Amino acid sequence: SIQKQLLTLVQQNEIAANVYEAVLEGELVSQMTSPGQFIHVKVQEGSVPLLRRPISLCDVDLASQRLTIIYRAQGAGTKALAALQPGAKVDVLGPLGQGFDPEMKSNASALLIGGGVGVPPMYYLSKELTKRGVKVSHILGFDSARSVFYEEAFATLGPTTVTTVDGSRGQKGFVTDALSHYGKPDRVYACGPLPMLRALEVACQDDELYVSLEERMGCGVGACLACVCRTNESDTAYKKICTDGPVFRAGEVVL
Ligand code: FES
Repeated sequence: SIQKQLLTLVQQNEIAANVYEAVLEGELVSQMTSPGQFIHVKVQEGSVPLLRRPISLCDVDLASQRLTIIYRAQGAGTKALAALQPGAKVDVLGPLGQGFDPEMKSNASALLIGGGVGVPPMYYLSKELTKRGVKVSHILGFDSARSVFYEEAFATLGPTTVTTVDGSRGQKGFVTDALSHYGKPDRVYACGPLPMLRALEVACQDDELYVSLEERMGCGVGACLACVCRTNESDTAYKKICTDGPVFRAGEVVL
């Protein structure tokens, strides 16, 4: 169930240019069993509470009740979060949204594709798939070498290709340029910017593809309607990314 709780910041590191990894600890973490779900983080700046920020789960250790999140420090809220020191309390609401379904047959193959800050949820998903005996491969897309993170972590779970737009690390180009290395997986999971997801919808039209649209999220709790998108069923049917998603089967909503 969704709850609000103060979690303790255990550690925090800048792992790529302006990208932070934070480990949070507390009882609420026991609820965070579904990769692709997200939390809402509220940070105080002095006495001024800032807007809550939606951030997806990157890794969860249920035994130690520790949660890892990765986020880009770009607005006032995430900059204030990045400035916190270990021991600080962080106001967290969650877990929110409908995550990825990791149930697949043992020995089935899954290709996980992340772009930029869409990479983190793929890590938790990959671990859950691996636990079920699924053979995982990854394509991780970034702008340049400075923004690459978690390449080694993914590589311990399965074959991993990094692409960068400028070619300063891995294969030059977009994630779609690396698809040909991976044959025909039983399922494809993706999270990243809209243009990337659109390109994958075309490139993977014969595959069972699931996409997370978390990048388009606003308030995250069903109130702002910034996340509403049309479904393919009719011109008048809509879904909210934050509560009906962020994960959808490709074709379910119009990207
Ligand atoms: Fe605000 Fe969905 S993000 S209603």
